[in-house]
Amino acid sequence: MCGIVGYVGPRPAAELLVTGLRRLEYRGYDSAGIATLDGDRVLHRHRTVGEVDNLARKLAAERAPGTTGIAHTRWATHGAPTQRNAHPHFDASGTIAVVHNGIIENYRSIRAFLTEQGIEPASETDTEALAQLIGYLYHDGGNGESGNLLASVRRALHDVRGTFGLVVISRDHPDQLIAARRGSPVLVGVGDGEHVVASDGAAVIEHTRQVVYLDDNELALLTRDGLRASTIDDIPLSKSVSTLEVRLQEIELDGHRHHMSKEIHEQPAALRNTLRGRIDQNEGTVVLGGLADRERELARYQRVILTGCGTAWHAGLIGEYLFEELARVPAEVEYASELRYRNPVIQRNTLGIVLSQSGETADSVAALRELQLKGATTLGIVNVVGSSIARETDSGVYLHVGPEIGVASTKAFTGQVAVLALLAINMGRRRHLSPERTAGLLRQLDEIPAKIERILAMADAIRDLTERYVERENWLYLGRGVNYPVALEGALKLKEISYIHAEGLPAAEMKHGPIALIDRGMPVVVVAPRDHTYDKVVANIEEVKGRAGSIIAIATEGDRHLAELADAIIYVPKTHPLLSPLVTTIPLQLMAYYAALARGHNVDRPRNLAKSVTVE
Ligand code: G6P
Repeated sequence: MCGIVGYVGPRPAAELLVTGLRRLEYRGYDSAGIATLDGDRVLHRHRTVGEVDNLARKLAAERAPGTTGIAHTRWATHGAPTQRNAHPHFDASGTIAVVHNGIIENYRSIRAFLTEQGIEPASETDTEALAQLIGYLYHDGGNGESGNLLASVRRALHDVRGTFGLVVISRDHPDQLIAARRGSPVLVGVGDGEHVVASDGAAVIEHTRQVVYLDDNELALLTRDGLRASTIDDIPLSKSVSTLEVRLQEIELDGHRHHMSKEIHEQPAALRNTLRGRIDQNEGTVVLGGLADRERELARYQRVILTGCGTAWHAGLIGEYLFEELARVPAEVEYASELRYRNPVIQRNTLGIVLSQSGETADSVAALRELQLKGATTLGIVNVVGSSIARETDSGVYLHVGPEIGVASTKAFTGQVAVLALLAINMGRRRHLSPERTAGLLRQLDEIPAKIERILAMADAIRDLTERYVERENWLYLGRGVNYPVALEGALKLKEISYIHAEGLPAAEMKHGPIALIDRGMPVVVVAPRDHTYDKVVANIEEVKGRAGSIIAIATEGDRHLAELADAIIYVPKTHPLLSPLVTTIPLQLMAYYAALARGHNVDRPRNLAKSVTVE
């Protein structure tokens, strides 16, 4: 959601900024813009609605000179996706330009104050109010801010409520960028005589691997050679330089047609990375470096709360089954957006687990803080190294599945489930799991990547099967037990990229209403591997057939009975029932992908969606 790139250095800024915006396209956006500064001290601004390509075409025809500049992809929150509302936003005098991620919550009162000063808004956005406020303080401030850009930015940031990652430039300071952060990521790439600032490492990686991450309430003044960091209140800071681990190849398509398909197919390798070094087969134990000295505490927690949003929440639901079954510890799952406002009761000895691919989802960050405030020990299961959640939790386990660029989450989901399995087995071993049972589970977990490879080898057959049903506008997904969340995830994937309406349900719940929807040929995907709920699921299949629905079964290899009952069947290799989501999910990801392709949609840029929802 929203992307920022800024540059100060010797090279022409525009081209570099547009390339940076392309690297951030995956996050989701609906308009784009750029402002560059030339020696003539003019701010050259260009903004377009829609794709970054539109902006690139505009820039090919018009001038955007200069070696300092800022650029932005906007995902509309305040005001429609129009050119007028696209960033960068200027102050009234056209001296200052701002790009901003996040939300300025008190923009209405700022705007009212500015109107009293005779400054009328030129857009409907909250960001413009901030740009105007900085400009007002810079020109008329009177409290020492007047004529002092840095002081004006500090003062304005002091006065705003809400979240921001932002970059400011001014035609009076053509060789400077000012970057600041509160709640929305900003990192500074430190190059040779240049700085590239961005909201995401993907926009920096081709220029430098050396980065400085800003923390909340920090600000950096950047010139070609200088990086001066301080708090927003002007306390000087010395920041350490980190190295970005991401490789360019990992964020490029690398021969694949879409990031989503690349990431689905990467899952065997991604999960091997997730598991690498974490299973000690000889000892029959789990080794999680990120827990360090807290690992022994796993024996004493009396309750586990799992939270996250979207696909991460689905992984959390699977975690609930894993913790209760394997560790016999009460577990519950809650949407982060609900948990943060519910005033939850947190007892002593509660472990709060926050799941998030990006580590930046606003509701998940807030839920984490609520859990900490109430005294829970917190653990992050996060993919993006150095992200907000990764840094704020008491301990954590990284997914190590590599950058996920596809908006529809795939390998992060299976990575999250694999980490939850490791954790639950680890916790279980410290309570009641025997060494033999533990070793058996770990062996089966270790075999999962190879089993996923076998499912991926059937991709063409899954495509053909999907195409038979793709005209249908309503689908149901059913599952029981640990495969009920898989049904939810399958339905979500289909909705996200093919825009087909789909509902996931615990199979038995179908009878309590949704069965009324079933008509002749309605696709009903049933996740039905061989486990203790199998017979019950088969009964549900009969109920669907009784209403002439079409059954697409996800079944364990060798299940002849279901082959007779179902209209279509996809086999997955046998594994431990509690680990089955790691295999049953794969065909559902492929079905969603092929359904979207057959319907002609842009799989990597689904309408209205953002990869990372960094605003409430
Ligand atoms: C957005 C994405 C989903 C993702 C959810 C949580 O809605 O489109 O794919 O599951 O955010 O994101 P997180 O980064 O916290 O896992």
